[in-house]
Amino acid sequence: MSRKPIIAGNWKMHNNSAQSAELAVGIMQELKNEDKNNLPEVVIAPVFTSLYAVDKELKNCGCGKVTLAAQNCYYEPKGAFTGEISIEMLKDFDLKYIIIGHSERRQYFNESDELINKKAIAILENGFLPIVCCGETLEQREEGITDKHIASQITKAFENISAEDTAKSVIAYEPIWAIGTGKTCDSVEANRVIKMIRETIRGLKGDMAADSIRILYGGSVKPETIEEQMAQSDIDGALVGGASLKADSFAKIVRGAMA
Ligand code: PGA
Repeated sequence: MSRKPIIAGNWKMHNNSAQSAELAVGIMQELKNEDKNNLPEVVIAPVFTSLYAVDKELKNCGCGKVTLAAQNCYYEPKGAFTGEISIEMLKDFDLKYIIIGHSERRQYFNESDELINKKAIAILENGFLPIVCCGETLEQREEGITDKHIASQITKAFENISAEDTAKSVIAYEPIWAIGTGKTCDSVEANRVIKMIRETIRGLKGDMAADSIRILYGGSVKPETIEEQMAQSDIDGALVGGASLKADSFAKIVRGAMA
């Protein structure tokens, strides 16, 4: 089964509105001569305060080559949740994906598997698609519990989600020791873990969901690493942090996914 690749830029806590708009325009400029049909799905996830400005630029361009995502959300539609942003509110934008369960959110904001599952359910109920992140720490890898840990994260994240909704969702496997460190996970090993994730989905939701769901690799993805990563059987794209903050390096990664 052929799965459309995704190259997603996670801008994390970088860039104000003007800087984000400039980066979005820069990316569209870089991709202007590429045939849309050959491109992977190109996704960018700015901070909440930049969504309006970036959404406006994407609409102005009208090229349809870049899709908007959010980096987080809360599952309740509204109420006394100071500082949170609901999925309802994200309907203000022409947005398709919402990243959830990033290791930085799990680590610094104590997000649990249960919370991530609630967010995933609410995202799908509201017509958006989750990009569910998972990954092991260096200690877990050294202890030999990588697969067990990730299978558990995935099982919990997709609890009470139908096979159809699972099929449309996206997973990002991001070994924590590879994030922002420059230490990319070996492609063959990343592919092995991603295959294990796909088999976990198969066991939980059946063949259709397992063969359709797109599973990305994330962790120090660079223009130099993407071709080898994309050549693997089960890696359907990349979630890119640092290298997505410059239009030219992000565009190189996008092009690398087309090669
Ligand atoms: P990195 O971040 O590419 O800077 O390692 C990836 C991520 O955290 O999504």
